[in-house]
Amino acid sequence: MEVIILKEPHQIANKCADIFEQAIIEKNNAVLGLATGSTPMLLYKELVNRYERGRLSFRNVITFNLDEYVGLSPQHSQSYSYFMQKHLFEHIDISSRNTHLPDGIAENPIYESEKYEAKIRGCGIDLQLLGLGSNGHIGFNEPTSSLGSQTRIKTLTPQTVKDNSRFFTEGEFQPTLAITMGIGTITSAKRIVLLAIGKKKACAIKQAIEGPLSAWCPASALQMHPRTTFIIDEEAASLLKMKEYYRWVYEQQQQLTQRLGMP
Ligand code: GLP
Repeated sequence: MEVIILKEPHQIANKCADIFEQAIIEKNNAVLGLATGSTPMLLYKELVNRYERGRLSFRNVITFNLDEYVGLSPQHSQSYSYFMQKHLFEHIDISSRNTHLPDGIAENPIYESEKYEAKIRGCGIDLQLLGLGSNGHIGFNEPTSSLGSQTRIKTLTPQTVKDNSRFFTEGEFQPTLAITMGIGTITSAKRIVLLAIGKKKACAIKQAIEGPLSAWCPASALQMHPRTTFIIDEEAASLLKMKEYYRWVYEQQQQLTQRLGMP
């Protein structure tokens, strides 16, 4: 695991955008796993910026989002489908045929989940982006989710419903079910980048990186993944025991890549 601690949210977005850019340039039809929430918003802004400056094209890129609320149509302003349109897809040259999210209003969400899993397995994700729930969830895999789980319906914890209530207006229907990639689906990606910002994520970050591998903290499953990078800010890193070591490793690595003239 690589742990990169940066000061400012825009530095986190830029560093992550570099990793995305590299993945898109490296492979003609890169398959990206995408996330929603407030954390990746600056990253999406930076990717749009790079597209507008002619530095990046998404023409052949394929995307799969982590999750979608059950009961919200793609047109609903709180659906993750709407979020992706608004923050990324409508600003770049990606083909709508290549963007995938679970259908929140599928007649049979169980079948929809199985179909989504099969599509992902058929393509294989090259780079998966993750945010982090304050309880350690990734996607909507809540604590005690099987570490080998596949795409399925999950019931959200009261904590997650509360955390995400800020996006809904009072009295508005807020779903308590979601279709989410499983932890096994997520960890089948070739490379994973997890972003976390703020004090509210410090405890989950501590458990994910330095805690035991446990279904109690779904993000701890990333300890088993061969190529995961955590890019986090000082506050999210505040409870890490080994943070000075992570900083030192990153500095050494920067020096090495500079010396070798690597991107
Ligand atoms: C939701 C999403 C997660 C996301 C999390 C954190 O629960 N399903 O994918 O990581 O929110 O969101 P935020 O970045 O707003 O803290």
